[in-house]
Amino acid sequence: MRKKIPIGTVGLGLMGSSIATCILAAGHTVTALVKTMEHAKGARIRILGYLEELYEEGMLKENPALALARLTITDDVGQLEGFEIVIESIIESVEEKRTVYRQLETVLPPTAIIGSNTSAIPVTILQEGLQHPERLLGIHWAEPAHITRFMEVICGNQSDITFAHIIIDLAESWGKEPSLLKKDIRGFITNRIMYAMLREAFHLVEKGYASVEDVDRSLRNDLGYWITFAGPFRFMDLTGIPAYFTVMKDLFPDLDNSAATPALMEQVVKEGALGVGNAKGFYPYTEKSAAQWEKKFIEFSYDIRKLAEKYSQDI
Ligand SMILES: NC(=O)c1ccc[n+]([C@@H]2O[C@H](COP(=O)([O-])OP(=O)(O)OC[C@H]3O[C@@H](n4cnc5c(N)ncnc54)[C@H](O)[C@@H]3O)[C@@H](O)[C@H]2O)c1
Repeated sequence: MRKKIPIGTVGLGLMGSSIATCILAAGHTVTALVKTMEHAKGARIRILGYLEELYEEGMLKENPALALARLTITDDVGQLEGFEIVIESIIESVEEKRTVYRQLETVLPPTAIIGSNTSAIPVTILQEGLQHPERLLGIHWAEPAHITRFMEVICGNQSDITFAHIIIDLAESWGKEPSLLKKDIRGFITNRIMYAMLREAFHLVEKGYASVEDVDRSLRNDLGYWITFAGPFRFMDLTGIPAYFTVMKDLFPDLDNSAATPALMEQVVKEGALGVGNAKGFYPYTEKSAAQWEKKFIEFSYDIRKLAEKYSQDI
């Protein structure tokens, strides 16, 4: 059996907590570095809740309290001395992330890997000024990280790709299905494609072609039905390539390519909408219905993970 090396993490916000949960559930000890100990107790409770959820879903075999006992939360970077892998998931700020890497470099061996869960900051920018830029990678997770199989491992201009392969092997043992980005590009794979889709979705609504509800309904029942089974390329193989070639010629020139943020987005943000987090979004919510949507989404996340595992990508 693979030796479970201790893993360091930085930040225990929304994603940091679910990342720590995933790694604890995989049997590692985790030392999580936080800025202040003020929210440590709350983070422990949140992580225990996630572990209990995994246990109830049959995705964790051991007692959740035993898995939690492998977690140390600290505000002392010295506790990460000698670690081989540290995964940072703090706020999306270049300055703040660089400050953390500078602290980490004072205690980590030169070959230790530092992974950043940045959503959109180019890894190359985060590598600037590091003593050992070759060991910094993007390790992009999807929330909730203890349930989703998604992971993108991204090399910046100075990354050593052998480190990326080490992370990919390890992440497979955590139940992930990682993708490798050999070269840095803003937004990586899924965010580039998702934002292209979001731009077109806003375009259809703002130009009066369809309502928010109808855009959602179409996407859920078309893309939503096949996308966990097959990516776009496999889907074209399955459904016949020439038709896509023909449609591309006519449709590409017609798609929205505006660089501006959509007016509807500007409007909802100005109105203070956060989404189900504050029961204000593109749809009307009460606090109760927002909480129900959140709960239902977690249930769905477990079901879709089980479905994906049932239909493996190996034939
Ligand atoms: N939320 C998502 O769905 C999602 C998805 C993919 C990637 N990400 C990325 O993950 C990162 C974290 O996002 P989040 O949604 O968890 O944010 P969040 O605001 O919930 O958590 C950020 C945490 O970082 C902590 N923090 C700030 N500075 C710190 C420091 N110097 N040391 C230790 N902790 C520090 C904050 O106290 C907070 O707990 C961001 O880079 C974000 O872009 C988020």
